[in-house]
Amino acid sequence: GRVVVLYGGNSAEREVSLRSGAAVLAALQRSGIDVIGYDPADGGLVGLEALAPDRVFIVLHGRGGEDGTLQGALELLGIPYTGSGVLASALGMDKQRTKLVWQALGLPTPESLMLAEDADWDGIIARLGLPLIVKPVHEGSTLGISIVDSKAALESAYHEAARFDARVMAERFIHGEEYTVSLLGGRVLPAIRVEVPSGFYDYEAKYNSNDTRYHLPCGLDAEQEAALGELCRQAFEAVGGEGWGRVDVMRDGEGRFWLIEVNTAPGMTDHSLVPQAAAHAGIEFDALVRSILATTLE
Ligand code: DAL
Ligand code: MG
Repeated sequence: GRVVVLYGGNSAEREVSLRSGAAVLAALQRSGIDVIGYDPADGGLVGLEALAPDRVFIVLHGRGGEDGTLQGALELLGIPYTGSGVLASALGMDKQRTKLVWQALGLPTPESLMLAEDADWDGIIARLGLPLIVKPVHEGSTLGISIVDSKAALESAYHEAARFDARVMAERFIHGEEYTVSLLGGRVLPAIRVEVPSGFYDYEAKYNSNDTRYHLPCGLDAEQEAALGELCRQAFEAVGGEGWGRVDVMRDGEGRFWLIEVNTAPGMTDHSLVPQAAAHAGIEFDALVRSILATTLE
């Protein structure tokens, strides 16, 4: 049957999705699968139904594609899709409520507080310390995120984040190393340590820079990497994640891991992390894409 790759969309991560989707589409074509690409920003759900897909490969990032709304529509239309279902997609898109679930299960994640126009800025700094991180709750690819080191910077970072989302959070900053773990059909792929010369793995460092270093193997000893992988598997399972995904983690100076967020439709561009982790595990890009597609049959 026909597979439709959904990519593009209306979110702030549209450009990333176009790049991810083009790569996935090409991989499925090379694999001899009957596939077409479709941008829901152009024809919406009606246009998608008209294509009569047997299965859908979701390579949309952010709101309207990764956040459960599309997944709910596909459930109602009876079209199987890759990746997480409605609940895990919606929860994964909400960085703050994801933390509440992790905290309830005793999984480590940095403390956070919600921000508002009339926030008690001094109280927030007293509680979380400086520097701290300001984030839109429902955004991806580091859009709208700032690291701040003063009260004045905190207020302006709040306003910057509020351009992206009505809900904005502040999070304790973890000094240390950044890791990411990819999950594929119940399998934990090798961890990657991301090192950025500027110290901030932002949109530029993710998609445009050639200075970002991806350490693979990640440099942890086998026991620590296994502990990290197990933590990420539990973190993904805690939100109800299915099929494939990626969990981002910080490691502090004492070697403790802190869960940052889960991505239920991670990037698949040539700079992206899941394809790199898979390649290190001996799964080339086309095989990775086919095995993600196969999760629609489960
Ligand atoms: N949100 C981007 C696409 C990622 O997690 O890879
Ligand atoms: Mg993300």
